[in-house]
Amino acid sequence: MPLQSLFITQLLRDSFANAPDWAELNADLEAACMQVAEDDEAGQQWCEDNGYDGYTSYASLNDLENRANAFADLKAKLDLKAAEFAQASHMDIGNAKWEMDSFWINILNPLAAHSGHIHPHSVISGTYYVKTPEGAGALKLEDPRLPMMMNAPSPNKNAPLSAKRFVYEKPEPGTVMMWESWLRHEVTPNMGEDLRISISFNYSLV
Ligand SMILES: [Fe+2]
Repeated sequence: MPLQSLFITQLLRDSFANAPDWAELNADLEAACMQVAEDDEAGQQWCEDNGYDGYTSYASLNDLENRANAFADLKAKLDLKAAEFAQASHMDIGNAKWEMDSFWINILNPLAAHSGHIHPHSVISGTYYVKTPEGAGALKLEDPRLPMMMNAPSPNKNAPLSAKRFVYEKPEPGTVMMWESWLRHEVTPNMGEDLRISISFNYSLV
């Protein structure tokens, strides 16, 4: 049938785990995340005050890349990946440059989740996954057209991923995912018995 797919929502899912130095980098990232979580008392307090079940540096630190070489190495990889994503998404950015304006750790305890949200004031957002125990929460993405679908039938069981209303991506260590910051997403509960560790980021244009 002569159908065209219009108004596409792009999700980049890739992995850094194939790089020869990845296992060492990921181990360093895990250790650095745990060290920052232990040292960052302002962040611990923020998590307690805001009901965050685990640890995040989102509200307390803005210099993660200076706190361990592993964070700086990861940022360099992400900078390249974000530029590729922008190009593949046909973004016309004129003379502007990409800047990673936030970069933060997420450590979710068993049963912890992160409810639906967008990332205002940014253009590209995403997450790199350090540790995803068996049963760790998925990244759940929502069809951005949901508010307009008041009478639209649900897609049938055999519908391809591109036609689904909700998409669940189960990350593995080394997985990197990126999307446009307006895309609403959440993290489903961590049903694993261990911590789920990830590092998220936002890119803006300057
Ligand atoms: Fe998010």
